[in-house]
Order: sequence, then C-alpha cells, then structure tokens
Amino acid sequence: MASVFYVLRATLTVILLLAGIIVLVLQYLQSSPAPTCHLPPAHSAQQTKQANSSAVEQQTYKPVMLLWFWPGNKRAIQDDLSNLPTSPRPKFQRWIWFNADSPNHTRRIEGIQSLFNLTLTYRKDSDIQVRRLLTFKNSDEEFVLPKKERLLCWFVDSDNLTTQSGEGYSYYRELINHMKVDVFHNSTKGENYFLTMSSCKFYLSFENSIHRDYITETFNSPLSVGTVPIVLGPPRRNYEDFAPGESFIHVNDFPTSLALAQFLLGLDKDQEAYMRYFHWRGYYTARLHLTEEKYEFAHAICQACRHVGIYKEYRVVPDLYKWFIL
Ligand SMILES: *[C@@H]1O[C@H](CO)[C@@H](O)[C@H](O)[C@H]1NC(C)=O
Ligand SMILES: *[C@@H]1O[C@H](CO)[C@@H](O)[C@H](O)[C@H]1NC(C)=O
Ligand SMILES: *[C@@H]1O[C@H](CO)[C@@H](O)[C@H](O)[C@H]1NC(C)=O
Ligand SMILES: *[C@@H]1O[C@H](CO)[C@@H](O)[C@H](O)[C@H]1NC(C)=O
Ligand SMILES: *[C@@H]1O[C@H](CO)[C@@H](O)[C@H](O)[C@H]1NC(C)=O
Repeated sequence: MASVFYVLRATLTVILLLAGIIVLVLQYLQSSPAPTCHLPPAHSAQQTKQANSSAVEQQTYKPVMLLWFWPGNKRAIQDDLSNLPTSPRPKFQRWIWFNADSPNHTRRIEGIQSLFNLTLTYRKDSDIQVRRLLTFKNSDEEFVLPKKERLLCWFVDSDNLTTQSGEGYSYYRELINHMKVDVFHNSTKGENYFLTMSSCKFYLSFENSIHRDYITETFNSPLSVGTVPIVLGPPRRNYEDFAPGESFIHVNDFPTSLALAQFLLGLDKDQEAYMRYFHWRGYYTARLHLTEEKYEFAHAICQACRHVGIYKEYRVVPDLYKWFIL
C-alpha cells in the first residue's frame, strides 16, 4: 500500500487530497509552466526512464491536478453547489467529473450538467475509465491454484439475507436450496478478505445494481486471488468486454439456479474442467484492487493524471445525467 502511495506521489506533480467528486485540471497551455508544474529532478529522471516508450516523455509541461473533494457519497457536491469553486473560472481550467458509483447511487444535482470537460467513471465510454481489471502478463510466473477449503462463498454486508430485496439476494435464496454457500458477514477489507476468498473455489460476484459496464471489485477480487467468479450483473457479453469469457461463470448461462448448482457440484469433482477457468492466467494478470478507503481511488486518480498528461482533447460534456443515468 505504501508503495502505491509513493507511485502516486512520484507520478503526479501536485495533488491536493480534499474531500468529494470533482477534479480540476489547470493547464498552462500557452504560457510557460509554473514552477510547481515540474516534477523535482530526481522524479523527472525516473519518470522519463519508466515512460520511455510512451508519449509521456514528449511532454514539455505538466498539468497541475487538484482533487477538489475526496470521492464519496457523503462528501459530494452539495445540492446548492455552495462547495464548488467560486467563479469566474479561469479559461485554462478543465474540470473532470469523477464518479465511481453506479447511476443508482448517483444523486442528481441540478446545475452541474454542463460544467465538465472530461468524465472519469466506470463506464467504458467515459473519457477516462476508473477500472481496468486485467493487464497483459509480463512475467513467466506460473499460476498456482491457492489451497481450496470451501466450495462457494459470498461476502455480504447485510446481516439478514432473508429480507433483502435485490436480484442477487433472491438468487442466493434460491441457490441455497440446492447447494451450500459459505456466507461471510465480516467482510472486513483487510488481509483476511483476500485470503478467505482465495480459499473458495467459487465466489458469488453479485453486483448490487445492474448497469452496463458496472462490474466492480466483487468481480475483480475473486479473479485476482484465483477464485472463479459466479457473476450476476450485466449480460455476459458485457463482462467479456472486461475479462476473458472463460474466466467466469454467468448465472444467465443456466436456466435455473438448480442447473447452476449442479454444474458447480460437477466442477467440484472434475479438477481438469475447473482448471480451465484459469487458462487466461497464462496471458493476463488481474490486479488486486486497493481496499483501504484512502487508496481505493488512487488508481483512478492516477489514470486521470496520465490521461491529461498525454491527451489534449477537451470538450464540454453535454448533459452529464442524460449520458450517465439514462
Ligand atoms: C529509450 O528506449 C530506447 C530503446 O527502447 C533507447 O535506445 C533509449 O536510450 C531510451 N531512452 C532513454 C532516455 O532511456
Ligand atoms: C430476518 O428477518 C426475518 C423477517 O423479518 C426474521 O424473521 C428473521 O428472524 C431475521 N433473521 C435474523 C438472523 O435476524
Ligand atoms: C470472518 O470470520 C471468520 C470466522 O468467523 C474467519 O474465518 C474469516 O477469516 C473472517 N473473514 C474475513 C474476511 O475477515
Ligand atoms: C436501482 O435501485 C433500485 C432500488 O434499490 C432497484 O429496484 C433497481 O432495480 C435498481 N436499478 C438497477 C438498474 O439495478
Ligand atoms: C470546459 O467546460 C467549460 C464549461 O462548460 C467550457 O466553458 C469550456 O469551454 C470547456 N473547455 C474546453 C476546452 O472544452
């Protein structure tokens, strides 16, 4: 975790970590860069070396990025916009809308629809994408299946699974008529989280709301630790935009929860068939997502910095909510 923060610090010029949802990019396009726009020499040298093959090294200026709020529902833009920067807004300043939530958890705030120049969300059609689940493998390391002690697991925050509404919960209630599910309520996001997950052959990667591209760490976590995700969310085709089709099992692949249960129980007895769900590991690596709150958004913010350092295109996002919520 510490090293991630280091990378963040080394890569970015200035980041002010406050609370909430917008990122401002101040770019001195014509004028000569302000001193703070430069990385300290040691970092500059390091970055040039690392980024040798990318366009980054051709940059002659570094944008300054200001994180206006640390993202999170409680600390978002206020309804009366009183916690936004006060006008007039400098001409060179670009605003990025940063939202890691699903439309269901995105509050509609009037008056911000056309304030932004770039979008940073989980959606594939954002200017900058928050999540990238897999990267190409760059080592010869062989995948070793973690020791398995449980068949099917689920980590949920809810205490009472009999009363929860939502597709995932109803599917779970059907499924347990046909097979055992080990439920962990203490999904404390510490070391145990990944360790426990890796001890399960399968994991219920049920999204809490269903939207195109909304595929979260509930999918990424089992992939990264060597557990096969059983997904409930957008259609299989959409998952395949993010991960190989044979890396997961979709509940819609089966007509009933009984058929799914029978299939999983069959795989439990057929190690060779089970191992086919890990063939993709010969080509890709799944990154562990960062679980601590203070690091959770670091990757997205790094993506944003990288993006504004490389690309010069900006626009006015026409209607944020029409695009994102509908
Ligand atoms: C960049 O990489 C090329 C070959 O990949 C190498 O010849 C060159 O010296 C490198 N430049 C720097 C600044 O590291
Ligand atoms: C869950 O809610 C149901 C219905 O309200 C109740 O009958 C049951 O006792 C609750 N279970 C637990 C574990 O709280
Ligand atoms: C939850 O508690 C169980 C014991 O009740 C423990 O085995 C497991 O590691 C814990 N899981 C997490 C994610 O902390
Ligand atoms: C959004 O949330 C509501 C209530 O939680 C739920 O009924 C609805 O299905 C959700 N929408 C989607 C698209 O998941
Ligand atoms: C960025 O958005 C603002 C607000 O809509 C707009 O006035 C400005 O022209 C945009 N800048 C660019 C380069 O598109």
